[in-house]
Amino acid sequence: MQTTIETEPRNLAAPLSRNKHLRKWVEKMAQLTQPDAIHWVDGSQEENDNLCAEMVKSGTFIKLNQDLWPGCHYARSDANDVARVEDRTYICSLSKDAAGPTNNWVNPYEMRRKLKGLFDGSMRGRTMYVLAFSMGPIDSPMSQIGVQLTDSPYVVVNMRIMARIGLPVFREIDKDVKRVVPCMHTVGAPLEPGQTDVPWPCNKEKYIVHFPESREIWSYGSGYGGNALLGKKCFALRIASNIARDEGWLAEHMLIVGVENPEGEKTYVAAAFPSACGKTNFAMLVPPAGFEGWKVWTIGDDIAWIKADEQGRLHAINPEAGFFGVAPGTSEKTNPNAMATLRRNTIFTNVALTPEGGVWWEGMTDEPPEECLDWQGRKWTPTIGKETGTKAAHPNSRFTAPASQCPTIDPDWESPEGVPISAIIFGGRRATTMPLVYQAFNWSAGVYTGATMGSETTAAAAGAVGKVRRDPMAMLPFCGYHMGDYFRHWLKVQRRLTQTPRIFHVNWFRKDENGDFIWPGFRENMRVLKWIVDRSRGRAVGLETPIGWTPRYEDIEWTGLHFEREKFEALQAFDHQAWRAEVIGHEELFIDLHDHLPPEIVYERELLICRL
Ligand code: GTP
Ligand code: SPV
Ligand code: MN
Repeated sequence: MQTTIETEPRNLAAPLSRNKHLRKWVEKMAQLTQPDAIHWVDGSQEENDNLCAEMVKSGTFIKLNQDLWPGCHYARSDANDVARVEDRTYICSLSKDAAGPTNNWVNPYEMRRKLKGLFDGSMRGRTMYVLAFSMGPIDSPMSQIGVQLTDSPYVVVNMRIMARIGLPVFREIDKDVKRVVPCMHTVGAPLEPGQTDVPWPCNKEKYIVHFPESREIWSYGSGYGGNALLGKKCFALRIASNIARDEGWLAEHMLIVGVENPEGEKTYVAAAFPSACGKTNFAMLVPPAGFEGWKVWTIGDDIAWIKADEQGRLHAINPEAGFFGVAPGTSEKTNPNAMATLRRNTIFTNVALTPEGGVWWEGMTDEPPEECLDWQGRKWTPTIGKETGTKAAHPNSRFTAPASQCPTIDPDWESPEGVPISAIIFGGRRATTMPLVYQAFNWSAGVYTGATMGSETTAAAAGAVGKVRRDPMAMLPFCGYHMGDYFRHWLKVQRRLTQTPRIFHVNWFRKDENGDFIWPGFRENMRVLKWIVDRSRGRAVGLETPIGWTPRYEDIEWTGLHFEREKFEALQAFDHQAWRAEVIGHEELFIDLHDHLPPEIVYERELLICRL
């Protein structure tokens, strides 16, 4: 028989760090926000279980059927809090010019006044959690540390999956060697005495604010995703892009994969696709028939921090520890690795709930369940869906799952030095014009390709869906400073390099005249990836075209897939008229950026026009 030792429950309000600045700041912020209690988060399993149990009691969480979904919970957000809010996101640099025309800007003094007012008493009736987190493995010199003060236990348990949190991070803070980024977060829904809480507290008014010079984040009113899990887009991209510019590295909206061929040779590739354009799927790619002996390893699915080592080679780490993945479309067929990853210890938000206490979303299975509760808790059947046009799961419903559970997680995914990067891929969601794949002529042409990327908007952000917008390097909503300076920074990075990664552009989403995708995508993307790896290693043929090097039909490995030459040619088709319109589209963004645009970008544009 096991004996248990009774221990005193931990005093949650007792600081877990000796750092005086941190303790003072926590006190000051508690005075401002006036929570009922303070809870220093140690990150333990026990603490996590308690928080989940409390949220089950309060109605924020539903515990899923533990036989089917061990360790899994389900949450429904408020219908007004389902995605990132780009029009409520601010870069409050000292000068407006430093934020650039692609960011919302408010004078930082004015914004601080505004935020002080909003945060005043905003945590009344709630607990303030002191959540220390490390973006990147704690022992990595490339990692960065933040402390998020939040009144959302949902955020705490999500951040526990998405980042390294708790005691080991406080210990790192106590060493006092790394600068700590303070992150303030409130759902903006104080409770009056006796007032009952709602399952998903939030505020109609939202502010997602970054102060790049003082490296601070203040987030008000939302509990969802990138608005609230502040380590992710706010820190690892908007603040980190500022740090990276100052220190000479890159903080990018990129997945990282390792491609291993049957001989055991491994090539690491990073790829930037805009939100909901296929990063998670590509990061977990399963090679198709015809690729026996090939393996694709996952390092990260959303963010890459990339830095030149002393030998002049780019190395990348994944600053995250989990996946906050788009649920709809994820299935055993499209992404079996994601399905295996999310089988346990996962939080599902805004998907549908089945009568067995399981989850479902559009595309998960061929047959929808006969009946379920949709993401708003209403009865949903396939007939209701057809008649009313409602979806069971919200298009931006997500799973939060530990990266360590991914069957293809790379043995080196937590390597403190990161993995060497041989190729960089840019890609958007484009129904027309953009071919399946091409290789830029060189680094500056590649930077131009990334800088002029276009993509149709998706449900990952609030707003219209399906409109082509310029999304440079998939960073339009995430670059924390002037986009023109960001291009200049990209160009400058090459000067540190002795081995320059090759740069490619892909488009899985080209459509035929019936509006159907021409390319089967998903695992078949391996065929494109192989050509990219072979080009990067100087052993595949490319045909020179006005936009770059492209594969001929015979340069792609087709074993295991019947795909006609004519279809491939339709995919790769280069249309002069469409490209002229495309270049004019580039100009639209450049007009806004012109006074910060590096000359290389202007020259590359001229060269492209000459070739057209
Ligand atoms: P964020 O987490 O928002 O950054 O998204 P992401 O870039 O990781 O996108 P994700 O892999 O989650 O894919 C988003 C949507 O694109 C899903 O509905 C996928 O099913 C779909 N998708 C992904 N890869 C492909 C592909 O190769 N072809 C097609 N047609 N659809 C794809
Ligand atoms: C994205 O929108 O690119 C995401 C989801 O990865 S969020 O974390 O909400 O930013
Ligand atoms: Mn993303």
